Amino acid sequence: METSCSKTRNPFTGAEANAVGVKVEGVSKTYAGTEVLSNISFDVLPGEIFVLMGPSGSGKSVLLRQIAGLELPTLGTIRVDGQDPSLEETRDRVRLALVFQAGALFNSLSVYDNLALYPREHRSGTEASIKERVMHALRILSVEDAVSKFPSELSGGMKKRVSIARALVMEPQLLLYDEPTSELDPVMSATISEIIATLKNEYSVTSIVVTHDRSLALTIANRVGILMEGKLITLGTAKELAATKDPALVDFLYPKIDIQNPRFKKLENQKTP
Ligand SMILES: Nc1ncnc2c1ncn2[C@@H]1O[C@H](COP(=O)(O)OP(=O)(O)OP(=O)(O)O)[C@@H](O)[C@H]1O
Ligand SMILES: [Mg+2]
Repeated sequence: METSCSKTRNPFTGAEANAVGVKVEGVSKTYAGTEVLSNISFDVLPGEIFVLMGPSGSGKSVLLRQIAGLELPTLGTIRVDGQDPSLEETRDRVRLALVFQAGALFNSLSVYDNLALYPREHRSGTEASIKERVMHALRILSVEDAVSKFPSELSGGMKKRVSIARALVMEPQLLLYDEPTSELDPVMSATISEIIATLKNEYSVTSIVVTHDRSLALTIANRVGILMEGKLITLGTAKELAATKDPALVDFLYPKIDIQNPRFKKLENQKTP
């Protein structure tokens, strides 16, 4: 039976109306015979901030691409507001934006044209109103000086901010962030956390945030899911996660540097006098 994500009041945020939910059911993904996602199921409630964490290579970006409808799962179903996100009609109806891990700006377009692309293509507003939206988004991310530059002229952190600004210009109902704070300094990381929280609180935007940033996760998440080797090994509130005693989770969340580790000893021995 098709379960639609109804627009009920979100028990965590109280959000309603505009917000959309996401349902991931029994999703597996296999590339050339290798399974990288294994039977993943979870719901993201309308207006919720859902954080996905996990070691490098655990399948976070792959899962985000399936939710964005850019790839199809090998098995299982994904629904955004009750509809298949890979269908054009869903993408026309639900404003969904993905902030890619590596930015994914168009190199041949200026920052301004990168941001104006979506509203121009969707004929949403006059050029003057598009300009206002573009400049507003760039200002929020303190990157308005880059407006006339091309992506190749930007630092990694600036590219990241410009790609978040591009997502904001789309006025999304569902925002998918892949590592939004990597390559950013602590002040800018805090700004990004504020933006994600503000979009939730003021505009009922549903967010799925993939991150390695534990403090970002534990600060803004309503719930956190942890992926390891393609499996969703735990799902709970940020508070539950912070209090976990599960040794595998503790090791992942609070890694210790063991200077007695033979790897460090080896480095020590290589030191030149
Ligand atoms: N298009 C693809 N074709 C084949 N294998 C892929 C493809 N995309 C991802 N993979 C593999 O799927 C696994 C999960 O990759 P993914 O990019 O989702 O990891 P991740 O959890 O996002 O890691 P990181 O934290 O380093 O970004 C990896 O083993 C990767 O090599
Ligand atoms: Mg990734």
